[in-house]
Amino acid sequence: MKLIYIIFIILPLTLFSQSKTIEERVQELLSKMTLEEKVGQMTQITLQVVSKKQGTKNQLHELDEKKLEEAIVKYNIGSILNVYDVAHSIEYWHEVITKIQDIATKKTRLGIPIIYGIDAIHGATYTKGSTLFPQSLAIASTFNKDIAERIGEITSLETRASGIPWNFYPVMDLGRQPLWPRLWETFGEDVYLAQQMGMAYIKGAQGDDISRPDKLATCLKHYVGYSFPFNGFDRTPAYMSERTLREYFLPPFEAGIKAGAKTIMVNSSEVDGIPGHANYHLLTEILRGELKFDGFVVSDWEDINRLHTRDRIASSLKEAVKIAVMAGVDMSMVPYDFSFYNNLIELVKEGSVPMWRIDEAVSRILKVKFELGLFENPYPSKELLQKFASDEHKQFNLKAAQESIILAKNEKNILPLRKNKKIFVTGPTANKLSVLNGGWTITWQGNEEELYPQEKNTILEAIRLKIGDQNVLYEEGCSFDKELNSNKAVQKAKQSDVIVLCLGEPAYCETPGNINDLTLPEAQLNYAMKMISTGKPVVLVLVEGRPRLITKIFDKVQGAIIAFLPGMEGGNAIADILFGEVNPSGKLPITYPKYPNAIVHYDYKPIESYDVNKYDPLLPFGFGLSYTKFSYSNIKINKTEITEDDELEVSIDVTNNGSMKGKEAVLMYITDVYGQVSRPNKQLKGFQKIELNPGETKTVKFQINKEHLSFIGLNNKRIVEPGEFIITIGELQKKFYLK
Ligand code: BGC
Repeated sequence: MKLIYIIFIILPLTLFSQSKTIEERVQELLSKMTLEEKVGQMTQITLQVVSKKQGTKNQLHELDEKKLEEAIVKYNIGSILNVYDVAHSIEYWHEVITKIQDIATKKTRLGIPIIYGIDAIHGATYTKGSTLFPQSLAIASTFNKDIAERIGEITSLETRASGIPWNFYPVMDLGRQPLWPRLWETFGEDVYLAQQMGMAYIKGAQGDDISRPDKLATCLKHYVGYSFPFNGFDRTPAYMSERTLREYFLPPFEAGIKAGAKTIMVNSSEVDGIPGHANYHLLTEILRGELKFDGFVVSDWEDINRLHTRDRIASSLKEAVKIAVMAGVDMSMVPYDFSFYNNLIELVKEGSVPMWRIDEAVSRILKVKFELGLFENPYPSKELLQKFASDEHKQFNLKAAQESIILAKNEKNILPLRKNKKIFVTGPTANKLSVLNGGWTITWQGNEEELYPQEKNTILEAIRLKIGDQNVLYEEGCSFDKELNSNKAVQKAKQSDVIVLCLGEPAYCETPGNINDLTLPEAQLNYAMKMISTGKPVVLVLVEGRPRLITKIFDKVQGAIIAFLPGMEGGNAIADILFGEVNPSGKLPITYPKYPNAIVHYDYKPIESYDVNKYDPLLPFGFGLSYTKFSYSNIKINKTEITEDDELEVSIDVTNNGSMKGKEAVLMYITDVYGQVSRPNKQLKGFQKIELNPGETKTVKFQINKEHLSFIGLNNKRIVEPGEFIITIGELQKKFYLK
């Protein structure tokens, strides 16, 4: 009888309900929901609110199950985020997520699962032992889209393996303000590079079906203009015209939306006096009207409240809620209380927020929950556990780190170093893992060195492994901002053949990373001068999240390597490059300035290189040396005149003329010679990373279409103008005309 019941009644019912479209399922569920249940879906709290004990170095985190039940059952909340405050073991994540979903699905009237969100910025940040990759700026330095895609895949798998289906990443903000403490969270200063890296990452993370157990929903952030604070401090105003916004800052988000990102997080600051969370024009007219984004929009941390408490554009928290919801925010990362929930219910009841707006927001949230398959299975997958932090992931991480490192100087081929030399390793970044990883590592700030996995290698440890303890002398010599024991260090330097001087920045994240001066702290520069004065050759290893100025010492060192937060395998990768086991192939995804006031991007305007003005950085965008020599020849185009509907094909031969196998990122730029608004000197419109054996030549091809030639014209709309264009690859150029 039971079997028959299952076959004839349950099965057809399930099949029938599954054959409904997601849209139908959303509408059906929505029609059953009360106002309170709906507003609950729009409410996100942080784990701290439902915790008994904070996780610390010495204490395990503990959930407060009573509070958790209250949040989910009484306040109907739809989402939880974050950790409190250190990474959990994967097993503990399983416990936490299971408890949460048990309550949501079994103890609430409609059984709607919770969507848990996390900042898995460079891997599953908050799961102990996860694979932690190079940060975004370092990913961009690889100029290798396959790396971004694979990092997306692995991060997704390890985050989902932890039971978490939603990642607040990728950062699609453009890194055009080098002082900004979140520069390293971006893919650099260039629009095209950021677009390509972001799209590749999303493809890897989401695949074509986010209900797959190893995929998750991504979140583009922080929409839009956040990354360009005038004064360089985090969460301070940006001033930009609509044209600048549309030309530079919006396109990476457009690309992310095209790539299918399911959610977007709002700019925590303000643009032209309008806080991100109050900007109807950006959040609704542009995002929904023009860009056709159909996922949901989440606020950033506490930012709806801040419309009242900080920005003073709302005279109460309640008014702030109204402004943000009506501007287009669908979910509030409140995150410490239920004020948003209470206020929004009141606002709807008194008619200040219309029901259609609530239904719209909730439908968008439910849609993503259905797409993620949370209604079918909201629980962590046990099968994925064995793939978590696998050896294969670690190997790939090492490869990504190797490709991200930039050889910035190599006078008289000081590098690679020979293994029989005596090396003096010194400086504040030589023997720490935190400096290789930066923020969003195990904790928010990433600066708790004791929490780092001891089996990973710092730069010093990796060098020791390469050449043996007996060949390595070490003295820290200098901290980030003060000299420690430089006399002892000078003595040791004198006993060595080469000094590997590791300078840079500590780990930081968001506002705590604000600085007043882009220059590397005096103490480090002075210490560098002491090392240089020993007369021993100095190889500078810079480990940092933004281009701290090193002009004072750069021409005095023989070699220099730049590592923009290369991740957990960064120490090994740097040693591989120092000793020539790997040929460096990273290139700068930003301009490295020479002077504090000479912050000019590579795609500068004609006027920035006119009369006495010039683009005169320490190192230009796209710069990076190799141990071999690549030469470019034979640039060809298949047409010299095209129409808007044509595609132009460009090809170029790249030859490895040196004696070492190596990878080369081939960068193609386009210059629009004349335009109705001033056009950039050149713009990156294609890149490919290839590998060549000594003596080998490969032909690299690029396609150019009208999108590559378009720009935001006088009327603030994207246009294409007929005229002359120049293609530049390496030193070679070709001209063509658009009819
Ligand atoms: C950051 C976001 C992050 C959020 C949640 C905020 O402070 O600006 O990037 O996703 O916190 O942790």
